[in-house]
Amino acid sequence: MRLAPRGARAAASAALAACVALGAISCGTASPVPTGAAPVDPLTLATIADLNTSPDIVEINLTAREAQHDLGGAKPTRVYTYNGTMPGPLVDAKVGDELIVHFKNELPEPTLVHWHGVRLPAAMDGSPSVQPPVKPGGTFEYRFRLKDAGLFWFHPHVRSDFQQEHGLVGVIRVRAPEEPRVDQERVVILDDVRVNEDGTFPTYLDDAAKMLGRESETLMVNGVRGARLRSRPGALQRLRILNAANGRFFNLKLAGTRLRVIGTDGGRIPEPYDVDSLLIAPSERYDVVFRAPSSAGEFPITTEPYDRGHETGENPARRLGVLVVEGQQVEAQLPSIDHGPALPKLAAPTNTAPITFSLDEGTTPSGELTFLINGKAWPEVPMQKMALAEVRTLELINLSEMDHPFHVHGTFFQVLSTNGVPAARIVNKDTVIVPMKGRVTALVKFDEPGAWMVHCHINEHAENGMMGEIHVGDATSLHGSK
Ligand code: C2O
Ligand code: CU
Repeated sequence: MRLAPRGARAAASAALAACVALGAISCGTASPVPTGAAPVDPLTLATIADLNTSPDIVEINLTAREAQHDLGGAKPTRVYTYNGTMPGPLVDAKVGDELIVHFKNELPEPTLVHWHGVRLPAAMDGSPSVQPPVKPGGTFEYRFRLKDAGLFWFHPHVRSDFQQEHGLVGVIRVRAPEEPRVDQERVVILDDVRVNEDGTFPTYLDDAAKMLGRESETLMVNGVRGARLRSRPGALQRLRILNAANGRFFNLKLAGTRLRVIGTDGGRIPEPYDVDSLLIAPSERYDVVFRAPSSAGEFPITTEPYDRGHETGENPARRLGVLVVEGQQVEAQLPSIDHGPALPKLAAPTNTAPITFSLDEGTTPSGELTFLINGKAWPEVPMQKMALAEVRTLELINLSEMDHPFHVHGTFFQVLSTNGVPAARIVNKDTVIVPMKGRVTALVKFDEPGAWMVHCHINEHAENGMMGEIHVGDATSLHGSK
């Protein structure tokens, strides 16, 4: 569908407003959702109200506070939320919009809001390298332009293993001027949360959780266990997917259907490709389309076995939910999506010295498990320096027995090869799986100066040492990494 300017949207298009408000939208050629009529899909994400009447500014209030959420325990769980919901709300915007966020911390502990994947000025990045934590009762105004189309997200960057697991996750959908026509589009946040039988969060972290990140059998789609994704037969469905789990890798499969990947972390990709199952590491995003089967039925949505180390490949497939195909066949089948916008490739390195990060596990002098970059634990990890706008090779070397999804703040990188095998296609990523005992070679370039964090996005690894910094231009870090 083509998006009208926000002014026209607000005034003229009630149907579109309904679409946008539903988050799980039914736009394009499908009939618009009648306002107030259909029961709200439980998979619908809450949408944040835009307080600004200007068509090119999205201005929101964002409050981190405690609330209750049913996570399958005997009692509802006391969770951390953005604006009261778990997962947090959806921010809807278009490319070029300015986003203004009036953030308030009503949690009993300090926090920061990091805008994952958004290319912005370093001062707005919400990492501990650029901003002191916002204390309980404190406020901060984030303000930046959304330069890229795609699905981005926000989460805390203080005790992220604890705070994100407790519910602090939100998404930003940035629309391009031209979006492909589909029958239905959903933003899908995959997560798993570990709670005790009484509904409380465990206070004790066992060795498996320390080693692999917190995982649980409570698999959720948009905060719902046993999710039911409804579709009309033959409908072209688009899912914009985020893995917001601390540790779990989702290897997503939809029975009877292949998924067509049309985008990832950095937005749409030029050449879509089909997969039987789609591996999504923590913090990665994938944009997929699929055609619902042409006859009614229920089709399991599962996460298939994947070996990310320490015998995880022996875990069985697990059910995430079902695709429920029902109702009337779509009148005319929309064509699937065969191509996307062109993507400028990064040129050959302008500085041939690579930026190298080796990833490993280790033990502290007192015998505790720790995670290391270039042999050190944060904040002792030696920082790396880059000039503004230079292109460098990024070498990610995994010395450990498990995968690490490695994230770079403030830019996209382009993977050239994994374990020496050339990448099938060049795409913009902000997180890449560095396979156990393996190696990823990429190109990276920054357009903004500053202290940019790099880290594993298994939050237990990051918070236990596997974080570092790239200093671009004349940058200083609050964390004083050397
Ligand atoms: Cu989702 Cu430091 O990042
Ligand atoms: Cu890791």
